Amino acid sequence: MKLPTRVKLVDVGPRDGLQNEKQPVSAEIKIGLVHRLQDAGLKEIEVTSFVSPKWVPQMADNAEVMHGIRRKPGVLYSVLTPNMKGFEAAIAAPREEWPDEIVVFGAASEAFSQKNINCSIAESIERFAPVVAAALEKGIRVRGAMSCTVGCPYEGEIAPAKVGYLAQLMKGIGVQRVDVADTIGVGTPRKVQAAMEATLAHFDVAAISGHFHDTYGQALVNTLAALEMGVWNFQSSSAGLGGCPYAKGATGNVATEDVVYMLHGMGIETGIDLDKLIDAGVYISEALGREPNSRASKAIRTKRAG
Ligand code: HMG
Ligand code: MG
Repeated sequence: MKLPTRVKLVDVGPRDGLQNEKQPVSAEIKIGLVHRLQDAGLKEIEVTSFVSPKWVPQMADNAEVMHGIRRKPGVLYSVLTPNMKGFEAAIAAPREEWPDEIVVFGAASEAFSQKNINCSIAESIERFAPVVAAALEKGIRVRGAMSCTVGCPYEGEIAPAKVGYLAQLMKGIGVQRVDVADTIGVGTPRKVQAAMEATLAHFDVAAISGHFHDTYGQALVNTLAALEMGVWNFQSSSAGLGGCPYAKGATGNVATEDVVYMLHGMGIETGIDLDKLIDAGVYISEALGREPNSRASKAIRTKRAG
């Protein structure tokens, strides 16, 4: 199959990247990261989540971050909202501070659903349905994240049929597009392709994105495997930040820098300026007191230093 000629990347670093961070990260730093990402050419940014601050303390400043960002025309800003309470909090601000898109997040694994959002898959869909309806009614777009589509930290391998089942449920409540997530980064190309295939039975390829954590170093090759199926939306974190607090041992998302380096090397357009993106990753890594977790960033910075 012919590969896509352009790819759209969602940088999920400010949310997925930082949610698990134990040290406090100020709203100002988070806002600074969003600004650097949009200046680097990212057209979609997952900014924060409206979840319980008891469960995820790092995201407690959600409203402050949404208030503080300087919006760039043409950029889509999304936030996670697991229930009506989260959705109402996301739209409590004046309309110009509303997210352009909200994300409901479910799992293909029952055990992960319980650990992450404290309810079964069926209950989660019941909770999401009014959130989706309210968002669409207000002209806010809706994405559905599907966790554990190849493997689960509690249940092990996940059958593609479970992914198809969740995709069907998401479609049924009006979710417009979905993320096929490898939450713990255990997937390998054929397994990821099977999860994508199961999702394609319910969503158009343009409405599917790949969300690969890089725990086992498979995220780039899994990206290529999805590209080969025509998928052209992917999620990644600058500097490879992140991990889900309810997926012990799972490391960050694939680094946006590494994905962009691969895509540009294949002649695939992203609209992203890799040098500026590397600087954004250095900015957030310095704030966290560590090196960017991106091989491309390291190699290019070494070259820059001459
Ligand atoms: P719950 O305890 O079942 O909720 O949590 P509840 O409705 O029973 O309410 C209990 C308390 O939480 C109440 O407060 C509510 O007001 C409050 P209290 O009366 O005890 O003071 N509450 C909230 N507060 C703020 N915002 C809300 C909210 N909802 C209830 N939205 C809940 C259910 C979903 C809220 C909880 O389990 C939670 O917040 N979980 C966090 C999940 C999370 O953020 N996980 C990480 C993101 S997902 C991810 O990383 C995966 C992804 O990247 C894809 C992949 O890689 O797989 C997307
Ligand atoms: Mg994730």
